[in-house]
Amino acid sequence: MTRIAVIITSTRRDRFADRPAAWVTERLRREGRDVDVIDMRDHDLPSFDGPSPMYAPRQYATPAIAEFGRHIDEADAYIVLASEYNHGYTGVFKNAADHLFAEWDRKPIAFVGWGNVGGARAVEQLRSVAIEFGMAPIRPAVHILPDVLVPAMTAPTYDAGLFAALDSKLDALIAELAWWTNALSRGREPASGVVAAQA
Ligand SMILES: Cc1cc2nc3c(=O)[nH]c(=O)nc-3n(C[C@H](O)[C@H](O)[C@H](O)COP(=O)(O)O)c2cc1C
Repeated sequence: MTRIAVIITSTRRDRFADRPAAWVTERLRREGRDVDVIDMRDHDLPSFDGPSPMYAPRQYATPAIAEFGRHIDEADAYIVLASEYNHGYTGVFKNAADHLFAEWDRKPIAFVGWGNVGGARAVEQLRSVAIEFGMAPIRPAVHILPDVLVPAMTAPTYDAGLFAALDSKLDALIAELAWWTNALSRGREPASGVVAAQA
């Protein structure tokens, strides 16, 4: 079975991100999908300092980077939960992403953002970065705008019902991501003996 990683990119103490994380993972698991939640709080990585991982695949400078790399490597697709700070995505996630390359390559990636414009600016930046990692950013995204964001954020606890207006958007994202996951997983399979012999 293919695995989808849901990446929480905010590490703020009072972050909203836990609520969309619950909503997204619930809907994925309801479909019986294999989900790994990768929380950047659990991956306290050093500032990137080294040669480009593009030329040194899976050579990890510290155990923490190796552990993060293992989680990213084991996933076939990603849904990035994009907190937007100053019209960009989080620095914590950029630093973490740059520690890797091969682990991301040729895999699909989707985005759920929130904020005054639904995290659209952070999501568009993430799409550009994903392309440089050799990924396939998919077209459908979920943008949590203030009409849903404010009630979902100010409620005392997580309430899936407060995201209901966006359920169909999330389902469309998951369906499209599943298509790309299937296509690209097959494409990454080792080449047949004949082709491998020619390499
Ligand atoms: C440093 C900082 C910068 C922010 N900049 C933006 C922004 O550019 N656009 C926006 O819509 N919201 C912005 N916000 C509000 C965030 O959307 C809001 O705090 C959201 O909850 C952040 O996600 P998080 O709680 O998961 O960290 C900013 C918040 C912080 C803390």
